[in-house]
Parts: sequence; structure tokens; C-alpha cells
Amino acid sequence: MARRRVESGPCERSDQAVSEPRKDNPPAWLGKRLPRYTSYPTAPHFGPLEARSYGRWLSDLTPPKRASLYVHIPFCRALCWFCGCHMQVTNRYDRVETYLVALEREIDLVGRRLQKGIGVSFLHFGGGSPTILKPGDFERLMAALRQAFTFETMVEIAIEVDPRTVDQEKIESYVRTGVERISLGVQDFDPTVQEAVNRVQSFALVEKMIATFRRQGIKKMNFDLIYGLPYQSLASVTRTARQVMDLAPSRIALFGYAHVPWMKKHQRLIPALALARDNERLEMYNAMARIFEENGYVPVGMDHFARAEDELAIAARQKRVRRNFQGYTTDDAEVLLGLGASAIGRLPQGFAQNTPDLKAYRQASAAGRLATERGRPFEGHDLMFGEVIERLMSNLEVDLEAVATKFGAPLSVFTDSLERLATLVQEQVVTIDGSRIRLFTPHRVAIRAVAACFDQYLGQSQTRHSRIA
Ligand SMILES: C[S@@+](CC[C@H](N)C(=O)[O-])C[C@H]1O[C@@H](n2cnc3c(N)ncnc32)[C@H](O)[C@@H]1O
Repeated sequence: MARRRVESGPCERSDQAVSEPRKDNPPAWLGKRLPRYTSYPTAPHFGPLEARSYGRWLSDLTPPKRASLYVHIPFCRALCWFCGCHMQVTNRYDRVETYLVALEREIDLVGRRLQKGIGVSFLHFGGGSPTILKPGDFERLMAALRQAFTFETMVEIAIEVDPRTVDQEKIESYVRTGVERISLGVQDFDPTVQEAVNRVQSFALVEKMIATFRRQGIKKMNFDLIYGLPYQSLASVTRTARQVMDLAPSRIALFGYAHVPWMKKHQRLIPALALARDNERLEMYNAMARIFEENGYVPVGMDHFARAEDELAIAARQKRVRRNFQGYTTDDAEVLLGLGASAIGRLPQGFAQNTPDLKAYRQASAAGRLATERGRPFEGHDLMFGEVIERLMSNLEVDLEAVATKFGAPLSVFTDSLERLATLVQEQVVTIDGSRIRLFTPHRVAIRAVAACFDQYLGQSQTRHSRIA
């Protein structure tokens, strides 16, 4: 089995050198291309999966399992040049309407296969920009979901918001339908950076939108920020971080810009020479993280922050945080159902992904078929290694013995992984205490390199991943 080893690099640094890497002596893990581990096995290791198999997986689910729903709306009004998501730009709303017809059919098809008694505890609308939907269409979509699935009384409904495509009327429809959390695409407040990525939205606009949401009663707010964008500097990201503090979101996701122009051709519009180098990216991340923490935010996992009273911070203290395709969550449902083109679901049997091709998606729905195209049944030790990776990514530590015991395996099953970890131990990235592995460096993004040591499939696909940090 071909495996990519975590290469060795400069070691024997003092603690201080680990916390503040000098430009001429960066940590060895920095800049490595590794998965972000939103799933394990990761998406490049998915293969063809028949809709019939996914249909059987759905029918075989038995109560009292709980499910979360992810609904993908793959449209935006304008192209953000940094975008790495499955989306299409459109100014023709009829395309959105045609898509909604197919989506409602899929919702019905999936709902019919589920046994009664499977409750829905989380619902997330992502994209693209779900805020592109007209209020009447959003409410119809919500009605279709409520009709097809049994919502628990405490269901949390969240929607990704592009502040440029939302207005008072849409916000009122979110309130009417029970939305209680928004995930706002902020990215960066610096005008030069915004222009360089074609995502111009003033601080005043975001401030006004947030005030409207709060007035209407939607107070749970996540902000998405990106570091590593063109023309960002330590000074500019520090300003953005302070402006974010003025708006006091409940949670922050601080993503490292994934520059993957070989996969996302439009990213070639980004002036590559204006991108920060790995070490500068790490400094930006650290500077922003410091500001958030000084203002009372609790770091969660690799790149999230939450106010101390927020459920995510509480879950982090209790080590209950989960990692899924949207990032870190308190959602503990055993089943995630992906609805819409390109959406990925996770069932006890494995992962299933819908076709990202909108025409193929529409055709499948019109013919009364599920639009499943790819996936990955769990096999061998997938679930066990997946649990180690999820614990590491979420808690920055794991007790290997506890996981091995849970899966009825001997501790020796991790021998190869521990061998791969040796370099990171030497480099003071992790410590091993008995069977407990703990991130030691203060650089939380390094956890991807630790998780990679437990990835049984790394190096078996041609995929080039994004870089750490
Ligand atoms: C699924 S996107 C959609 C969000 C929403 N449509 C918006 O931009 O307003 C969610 C988040 O992913 C992040 N993102 C998208 N492309 C990225 C990239 N290439 N690298 C890092 N983060 C990225 C952005 O922070 C974005 O807000």
C-alpha cells in the first residue's frame, strides 16, 4: 500500500521557536498539502455508488436514529474568485426555480424511503448562496422538508448568508420558517482585498444586515473569514479581526485560503504574486486568533472560535464537538442526509454524494431516481481510523486505547500510524503519553499533519490538496 510519509524537517527547536517560527526556519509541516479531514475516507477516495445502493441504505435506517439535513443551493449572483465550492453564477432566476422543482422531488424521494420515527435535529442550507431564493420559494422548500421529514421540537435551522443578496423581506421569511442561525460570508473587510477577490461588500452593509437579523430575533451568527487572500497583510487582517469583534458574532470560522487553480479555474483571476507565503499565512492566522481569544472567544478545533456561552464552546469543553463537511458542529446525529446537487451525506453504511451536474441532477429527479453518483461504503477499519481523525481534528487529542477498545481492536492496529507520527513527536508537534496523543505546538492548523498519520489511504489518489496553514 503506497503511503506518503510526513517528511522530516528541522527539529530540536525550543518551545519558543515552535510558537513563533522564524521566516528562515519554518516548521516542517507548514505548507504540506494534506486533506482538511471533513470526512474520512476523504472525498478523493469516493468511487461510483449506485442510487439503488443508497436507496437501500436509506430504507435500512432504523429509529431511534436521528438525522441532520444538508440542503445545497448551488447558485450565486456573482463569482467570488476565491470560491472553492460547487456553485454556478446565474442572473436567471428561472434556473433556480427549475432546480427547486428537482430538489423538492428529491426531498420527497428520500423522505419516502425513511422509516417513521427518524427525527431531524439539524437543518443546514448551504451553497452557493441560499439567500438567492425568493421568500416564497424558501418557504415552499421549508414546507416540503417539513412534509417529508419529522422535525424534532429542538431542531436547529441554519442558513448561509451572502449579505449582498439578503433583504428585510427574506429575513422575515427566515424568522417565519424557524431559522435561528445564520452563517455569514464575511471573508475580509479590507477594500483592496475585497476587490482583488471580486467580493466587494462594505463593513457598513454587513453591520446593517446583522442589525436587521438581530432586530428580527435571529441572534446566532457565524462569520466565515479567510486568511491568505491576495494583498492581505498582518496589519490588514488585524484590522479585519478588530472590526469583526465590533460585530460580536457567536462563532467564527477562520479558513485558510485554499488556492487550487488546477481544480477551480476561476481562481486564476487571483493575482498569485499577491498571495502570502506559508509563514506569513501562519502569522496572519495567529494574529487574528490572538485577537479573538483576547476578546473571550474559545478556540474550537483547527480553525473555529466561539463565544464562551455558545453551544459550540460548551461542547468543546465537554469534548463533544463533531466535524462534518460544514466544519465544526454540535450536531451529534448518526445520519447526515445530503440533498441537492453535489450534496454529500453520511450514513452508518458509508458516504453518498449526489451528482454535481445540474442537468443530470434534474434528469434523475424527473425520472423519480435518487441522484447519487459517488460514495464510499465503510470497510475494514475505516470507522475506527475515522474516529481517531475526527477526535484529533475536533479536540486536538485522542486516546488511542479508548478508540481501539470501542472498536474491539488491539492497540497494535495503530503501530504504523505511530511510526509515521515519530517525526512530529521529534519536532514537538505532538506528545504521546501512554496511548494519548496531544497536539503540543500552539499552531492548531498543524493538526492536519497529525491526522494524516492515521489516514490509511493518503497518497493513493492523484489529488493535490490545499496547503497547511
Ligand atoms: C460554501 S461557501 C458559501 C458561503 C456564501 N455563499 C457566501 O460566500 O456568502 C462557505 C464558505 O467557504 C469559504 N470558502 C470558499 N472558498 C474557499 C477557499 N477557496 N478557501 C477557503 N475558504 C473558502 C468562505 O469563507 C465561504 O464563506
